[in-house]
Amino acid sequence: MTVRLGEAPPRDMLDAAERMSVDEVRALQLERLQWSLRRAYDNVAHYRKSFDAHGVHPDDCRELADIARFPMTTKADLRDNYPFGMFAVPQDQVARVHASSGTTGRPTVVGYTATDIDNWAGLMARSIRAAGGRPGHKVHNAYGYGLFTGGLGAHYGIEKLGATAIPISGGMTPRQVQLIVDFSPDVIMVTPSYLLTVIDEFERQGLDPRASSLKVGIFGAEPWTEQMRLEIEDRMDIHAVDIYGLSEVMGPGVSQECVETKDGLHIWEDHFLPEIVDPLDGDVLADGEEGELLFTSLTKEALPIIRYRTRDLTRLLPGTARPGMRRMQKITGRSDDMIILRGVNVFPTQIEEIVLRTAGLAPHFQLVLTTAGRMDALGVRVEARPETPFERREAAALELVTAVKDRVGVSVTCEIVDPDTLERSVGKLQRLVDRRSL
Ligand code: DLL
Repeated sequence: MTVRLGEAPPRDMLDAAERMSVDEVRALQLERLQWSLRRAYDNVAHYRKSFDAHGVHPDDCRELADIARFPMTTKADLRDNYPFGMFAVPQDQVARVHASSGTTGRPTVVGYTATDIDNWAGLMARSIRAAGGRPGHKVHNAYGYGLFTGGLGAHYGIEKLGATAIPISGGMTPRQVQLIVDFSPDVIMVTPSYLLTVIDEFERQGLDPRASSLKVGIFGAEPWTEQMRLEIEDRMDIHAVDIYGLSEVMGPGVSQECVETKDGLHIWEDHFLPEIVDPLDGDVLADGEEGELLFTSLTKEALPIIRYRTRDLTRLLPGTARPGMRRMQKITGRSDDMIILRGVNVFPTQIEEIVLRTAGLAPHFQLVLTTAGRMDALGVRVEARPETPFERREAAALELVTAVKDRVGVSVTCEIVDPDTLERSVGKLQRLVDRRSL
């Protein structure tokens, strides 16, 4: 698989931390980690209680590996302390709050001091620059504005970089296309699934998406695959790079793929300490091994977060384009999104790779879980590409079913539907439809 690589920013444009060696980053992390643990313990009742219950104290952290002695934090801890119980500053020092949508129950609320917002903007500016954005560029920001961290997080970074923000938010797809044509932006920031909808709209209007002014797309907030990168780069003639983050840890800009290597996401380790643990027993795993990603914040004032369990599965790799900072491999999926079908683990990303490799199939698909007798059954509903002849559909479905059996090891059914019939997302995509009877 070949990907076209973009241009690295000139070295003098990088932040000082991006030029640090591994040893310099580690020394900075230790100093900041000790500060962050103390801040959490001294100011947040939850942390004081849980550290005490574990028999650890911030003074016990003498080297980075000591982090493993501290208790982990989960989404449930944030929910239990809803809305502001995890904040380490009085409310008059909270400059902004965001919240995750929370499909069930209470949303998780996060807060930022003015310094936190400034650090976040700096990391987003760094991320956009690593992706190929430059001061003076116009950036079409189609991440949702509001309580979701995507829109405003990106917005402040664009301005901090010295670029021009076009704050369109998500939705109203025909207008997205119109503004891309009329304003000629250089960069687009959007979920990969919504970008596909925008590309389809270009074609519906008889416009060639490859002819647009866009040079770079910065895609995140949901998992996407190397195969999807090829699809997007080919259909839009842009560099497609990955951005990762989560509200509990900050928002977008925790890690970012560099356009000159496109080899996974550099974690901005001057602000976050990553760990990988075994999702079942929580044991810390070595770099290179796949497991659940944890983060400890090193500079956050309003919401220090200690060993937060992201549920995202990946592995840590050594730095490349920024040698002092480790990379994380593109996310395979969330442990919550994993389907266990007759004992086999299936991730929607595995199906995405296969759909995109199958001639005639569009990148729009849904996974439908049903009950067949006492067993679960998985169906793939996927759209044909508009140019696919009707006669091709049966063979494409068979190819998909065979490839899933060979590569993932499970039997699925496949239904090919007409182009433009499956629901489109304007933000995060929900691939799985669970129709199992309880
Ligand atoms: O999605 C923040 C964000 C906004 C990231 C815009 C990138 C771009 P949450 O709504 O809290 O925050 O959701 C966080 O989304 O734990 C992952 O499961 C998933 N996620 C985010 N980025 C990626 C990515 C934002 N690049 C949750 N690849 C995370 C895979 C991602 N999954």
